[in-house]
Amino acid sequence: MEEKQSILKFMIIEHGILYNLLVGFRFQSSSAQNPQAALRNFSKFKEKLTPHHFAEESIIFKMDNKITTVPIIKVLKKEHTLIEKIVEKIDQNIANNEDAEENAANLQRLLRNHLNLEEKRFYPLLDKQLNDKEKEELIQKVLSITQPKKGILQKLGSLFG
Ligand SMILES: [Fe+2]
Ligand SMILES: [Fe+2]
Repeated sequence: MEEKQSILKFMIIEHGILYNLLVGFRFQSSSAQNPQAALRNFSKFKEKLTPHHFAEESIIFKMDNKITTVPIIKVLKKEHTLIEKIVEKIDQNIANNEDAEENAANLQRLLRNHLNLEEKRFYPLLDKQLNDKEKEELIQKVLSITQPKKGILQKLGSLFG
């Protein structure tokens, strides 16, 4: 049977945007030579990270009555906490005009591992266990948090049609 909806495909796009914002910050501005650029670029990353984590924790990870992925969800939640702790450290680095490169490298490693676990294990399982209607509803709920701007829904809709 052909699979029409895929939360995995949707999340790979979301994750790609998120990861690239961090890579951009790390290579352009984590070395404290341009604090204004560091603040601007790290803020862009956080503006994407915060709603992404919120959508996963408030909507997707709450589906655990429907799916058999509870042990993975526990790991993923722990990783969110670790990621957010390093984000706070980098905020402090930037506020104190310090080099954030070491923390940024750690964050990049941690984020890559986390996204891999979601993309290789968690989202494929979720796709198998939900029907197309449930997946569509889930994607729309996530979009209402991560992409609330008008018009974005139609634009993205063509990717999943
Ligand atoms: Fe996550
Ligand atoms: Fe994610």
